[in-house]
Amino acid sequence: MPANMTQNAQSLRQHLTELTSRAKDEAYSMPSHFYTSDAFLELEKEHIFRKEWVCIGHIGEIPEPGDFFTTELIDEQLLVARDDTGDINVLSNVCRHRGNLVENEASGNRRSFICPYHAWTYKRDGALKTAPLMKKAKAFDPAKCGLPRFNTEIWNNFIFVNLDGTAQPLAPQMASLDGILHNYHHELRNLLFMEDTVWGTNWKNLTENFMEGYHLFATHPKTLQPMTPTQLCRKVPGEDRWTAYRSYYDPEYPPRGPFHEDMTEDEQRNSVLFNLFPSFVVAVAANYTLFLCLRPHGADQVSIRWGVCGLKSDPNDPEVVAYVDLCKAFNAEDKEKLETLQQAQKTRFFAGGPLAPDDLEGTIWDFLKYMESRLGAKSAALAAE
Ligand code: FES
Ligand SMILES: [Fe+2]
Repeated sequence: MPANMTQNAQSLRQHLTELTSRAKDEAYSMPSHFYTSDAFLELEKEHIFRKEWVCIGHIGEIPEPGDFFTTELIDEQLLVARDDTGDINVLSNVCRHRGNLVENEASGNRRSFICPYHAWTYKRDGALKTAPLMKKAKAFDPAKCGLPRFNTEIWNNFIFVNLDGTAQPLAPQMASLDGILHNYHHELRNLLFMEDTVWGTNWKNLTENFMEGYHLFATHPKTLQPMTPTQLCRKVPGEDRWTAYRSYYDPEYPPRGPFHEDMTEDEQRNSVLFNLFPSFVVAVAANYTLFLCLRPHGADQVSIRWGVCGLKSDPNDPEVVAYVDLCKAFNAEDKEKLETLQQAQKTRFFAGGPLAPDDLEGTIWDFLKYMESRLGAKSAALAAE
């Protein structure tokens, strides 16, 4: 990396550490450069996205043996497939022969996966099945030619991958958030909608945006504000792995049932929005779950796999369609704001600004603290480099 790039990443690391050592009531945002720097993005890829549990989808996308979808995470091509025993594996979608892409479709069902280049064929669990005309090749050992399998964990029906294989088990780290979510019974909700898209904004811009209720009245005056007004947002104390807030429903807004019988009256009146760091952002409402799996796509773009879950099972049910349409409408409102934000962030004159009080932007403060814990000036992992 050129010296000046290293230097600007170093100065952001230093800035992050100094900023987050302030008291919470003096919370401030990061300079624009935090959201545009290629050098800092390289650190994020290496020290966050390669090392953490990253959500890449929902088990409802691949309910049957042989079902699969393909996706990408920081230049790793992934093949997520259900095998004959019903297990979900996250495989490398890179052929063990000469490294071409094995599966080229976005999703589907296969008896086996055939690399189109020289037709090496893999079983549904990634083991090599056949390799044409290879018997006389001395270096060829079929047992060593399965598709590599990444560390995988399912939490709350969401599929997580850990690329470098060093992350501690996820579920035990989520126990207290599980407690907060328990009565909503997200696990009973079916996947009803799923879409892949790319927005022209840094991944941290969308992560922060999803997690703060301050912008609702200004950015979503007709879509979200009448339902979940900014004024009724309440921060939930976060932990190392996550941050959250509750967005309470306007008392004038019709009840958002059907409610699970476990839900308290208070829970019937709010959605829990959380970020499982770094970038899995979810809104568990009284009736539906909206989730966004985010990952960087260059410094100025974010790849999004987003979906909706609910108790209904028919994606064409008019009520489901209306809810997905509402999500599309407020997503479009956010996209517009976040793409102008990215444009404005090319400036050299924005050094950060004051964050709104804890209930409104405290989640951004928690996120910056998380970023500091991984990439701050004192980060042990980086110091060793
Ligand atoms: S690269 Fe896949 S079969 Fe040759
Ligand atoms: Fe928004």
